[in-house]
Amino acid sequence: MQIAKTITEIRACVSQARAAGKTVGFVPTMGALHVGHVSLIKAAAERCDFVVVSIFVNPTQFGPGEDFEKYPRPLDKDLAICEESGVDAVFAPSPAEMYPRQNLTWVTVEKVSEPLCGRFRPGHFRGVATVCAKLFNVVGPNAAFFGQKDAQQVAVIQRMVADLNMPLEIVVCPTVREPDGLATSSRNQYLSPQERKDATVIYRALQRSAELIREGKAAAAEITRYMGEVLRQVPALRIEYVSIVDAESLDDLRRVEGKVLVAVAARLGSTRLIDNIVVDATAK
Ligand code: PAJ
Repeated sequence: MQIAKTITEIRACVSQARAAGKTVGFVPTMGALHVGHVSLIKAAAERCDFVVVSIFVNPTQFGPGEDFEKYPRPLDKDLAICEESGVDAVFAPSPAEMYPRQNLTWVTVEKVSEPLCGRFRPGHFRGVATVCAKLFNVVGPNAAFFGQKDAQQVAVIQRMVADLNMPLEIVVCPTVREPDGLATSSRNQYLSPQERKDATVIYRALQRSAELIREGKAAAAEITRYMGEVLRQVPALRIEYVSIVDAESLDDLRRVEGKVLVAVAARLGSTRLIDNIVVDATAK
């Protein structure tokens, strides 16, 4: 496995693979790798001949007071996981390599960045879209792999790629969960043992929404009210939003029709958790 710290190095690795006729799959991450990331790596390895993983805690997507400084950076462990998972090259740049000067050029995906997490993390999706555009330009992959866990991120990146005619495919992979249903996340390690138990309520609320939709309930407000009842079983949970939106446009829905995204964001102590499911309301 090749480890590149600079843009020049990773471009050389990828050029060599291309010259050998290989297709390139790319998995962008912020490190602290877990089984969710590994599922993306496996998906990339299945579809592409040469797999590149980036490990970069991107400062521009963290707001003031968020966990940029505290975000875990276990680089040696991450490299071992990449090696074991069959990654061909890791790109692990420094902040100065990615942002050598004041950044004046930003990618803003309007509308899709605004609801849900966008309301609580102003500037977050601008940072995500900008760093992904930069990483796509640096690596030049045929396909990039993203997790459904971050549904709004997927919607933002898909729209950016479509609007800017970027020549790559975006592949979306299912959310990997712990045995008790909690979506695997690098931030789960911030949770105390009690918070870790409490966190399972989020997936229970999402499952409740799927049941209600299957039973034929179609009023979004009614479904989110029932979900609120489930979530309030954990008084320590501070709900940011419980929303039902169109799975592609992220437009708010009053009635559940077609493919809908049911999404929750909530805080336990200082840890922010997000999760979602996609439910096809036409498939009863
Ligand atoms: P990070 O949080 O490290 O996630 C990297 C990728 O792993 C994302 O596509 C995310 O959706 C996916 N992922 C995380 N947990 C998952 C799970 N439980 N199941 C499936 N996939 C999961 O998302 C980012 O980094 C950054 O915003 C990034 C795209 C790298 C830009 O900085």
